[in-house]
Amino acid sequence: MAQIPDHIIDRIRETVDIVELISRYINLKKQGKNFKALCPFHTEKTPSFTVNADKQIFYCFGCGAGGNVFNFLMRYEKITFLEAIQKLSAETGIELPKFREDERKLSEYDQLYRAYQFACDFYHNLLHSKYSQIEPYLKKRQIDPETIKFFKIGYVPDEWDTLYQEILRKKMDLEPFQKAGLILESEKDRQKKYDRFRNRLMFPILNLSGRIIAFGGRDLGGTTETPKYINSPESAVYIKSQVLYGLYFAKEWIRQEGFVIMVEGYMDHLQLFQNDIKNVVATSGTALTSEHAKLIRRYTKEIVLCYDADAAGIQAAVRGGQILFQDNLNVRVIILPENEDPDSFLRKNNKSEFYALLKTARDYFDFRIEQLQKTIGMQDVSQKSKIVEDLIDCLGGHSDPLKQNFYGNIIAEKFNLQESTITEEIRRKSKQIKSREMRYQDNEPDRKAQEKPSLSLVGAWSAEKDLLLILLNHLDEVKNVIFQLVEEQDFLNKEFRHIFTLVKENSSKSKDELTHWLFSILEDERIVSLLTAELFKEISKPERYLNDCILKIKVTRYQTEIDTIKQQLKQLNPSQPEYQAHLHQINSNLSKIHEIRKIFTRK
Ligand code: CTP
Ligand code: MN
Repeated sequence: MAQIPDHIIDRIRETVDIVELISRYINLKKQGKNFKALCPFHTEKTPSFTVNADKQIFYCFGCGAGGNVFNFLMRYEKITFLEAIQKLSAETGIELPKFREDERKLSEYDQLYRAYQFACDFYHNLLHSKYSQIEPYLKKRQIDPETIKFFKIGYVPDEWDTLYQEILRKKMDLEPFQKAGLILESEKDRQKKYDRFRNRLMFPILNLSGRIIAFGGRDLGGTTETPKYINSPESAVYIKSQVLYGLYFAKEWIRQEGFVIMVEGYMDHLQLFQNDIKNVVATSGTALTSEHAKLIRRYTKEIVLCYDADAAGIQAAVRGGQILFQDNLNVRVIILPENEDPDSFLRKNNKSEFYALLKTARDYFDFRIEQLQKTIGMQDVSQKSKIVEDLIDCLGGHSDPLKQNFYGNIIAEKFNLQESTITEEIRRKSKQIKSREMRYQDNEPDRKAQEKPSLSLVGAWSAEKDLLLILLNHLDEVKNVIFQLVEEQDFLNKEFRHIFTLVKENSSKSKDELTHWLFSILEDERIVSLLTAELFKEISKPERYLNDCILKIKVTRYQTEIDTIKQQLKQLNPSQPEYQAHLHQINSNLSKIHEIRKIFTRK
């Protein structure tokens, strides 16, 4: 970052419009003078993600994510500040000075991306150089060469250390590969390293920007000694609940077709794609979550589940479908002929036969009723009421009251019950679920706090924060007064003190320049968020409020000093010389407080 001059960063930022940029990723709606959307950084049902076009900043009132265009890209694409600058530089045509990349300074994200990209190229090349070994399998599974090329599918032979040896040969740093979970070490002898993926067909897993973030590997041995599929472990760039396999390739097709087909396996995805059915993603063995629902919702609300016809597949469709259904997505389900999965179906049938099958897709709720009837039975009242109970459970979690009502009526009709009874039961269930969710959300900050050490907010932290807010929002009007009255030592929160110092040293910049410059140099994204939150607020009478802030900050500072000295006094004997000095200090602080109160409260 140090290599790129501020004026270039400023120019890039001014050229890009934050509303336009963010709109490419999520659906912004104008609301008053701001724009709003469902936050892409946490799960929510009502929009609290806000973009202010005047100030060119964003802030989520739900999770606190905030900043400028660069901060958005960093978070959304999981890239570094430098990469965000580079991306927008390429886009705006504003050139960056040439500089040498320092390997050691690459962020953890970068290191992982590089390791995966390297491994992907390596495995893909191996597939070609050892083609005769893998050819029979590819033929058997009817995987076309174009498909191999398009998805960069790879092959790793039946050896312990194919990738490891290559890393040694190329004299590459091993650590990123270990972090990526590609290289493991023996528990008995940590010097002994070996590959995670051996004797497998390799499927690269991509994020939404097309970067490789993991692999899925299909066993080629055909024994039961090793799992049929193994996947990369989760990492800083691979969070299973946020990834749908193949979405990168499918997203434009999903938009175009107006719906998405969800399958279970890598092979299913591949086979559909190669048969020119491209609006397809695979859940690849992970349980669907509401994060997945959120991800899909960016592209479509129409989902067709096409899972295996076996018991496990049906179970997965029931469970996964429920998550999507309750999130108010329109879910339909297709049932394949017995013992088929989408892959095998398409090897035996063609595209139009698959489309014919698609036409038979049934509404999720309908499918659910039928499954319950099959598993529970419909002979007697107790069976029927068990089914109704399950259906009400399912509807209680639905996010749309209209749909709850609509489906409630279907239950009433089908089981010959009164609509009002069903509606009442759904409402009760709904309330119960909501209160459970509330409790869960209350606990959430704690869980987050465990992940990162929380900011230590001490003393008059909110006055310190507000003072910074006034300073940043009204820089030219207030800076002289503030710099005259307030000194760095007045700030007890070191993060705020740091910002204060930075502002003081750079107060010749314009207000906007200064704020955005701060966004780019502050490393802790929580501080950036905090600042952005402040910039969204307006203070009506800043001068008056400023007095209060300064008063509070100063009094707290001197009072805190007094408290500390009092603690120290306890350890001392009145005959010691420091004792008197301490007492003197306390008195001097007390009169300072008195003085400050006089000055600031009189006005
Ligand atoms: N899966 C997994 N680990 C396993 C088995 C399965 O992660 N041990 C995931 C894989 O993503 C797989 C999907 O679940 O693609 C579906 O599993 P399955 O139906 O068993 O595999 P298929 O996709 O049908 O694979 P194949 O046709 O190669 O047998
Ligand atoms: Mn299969």
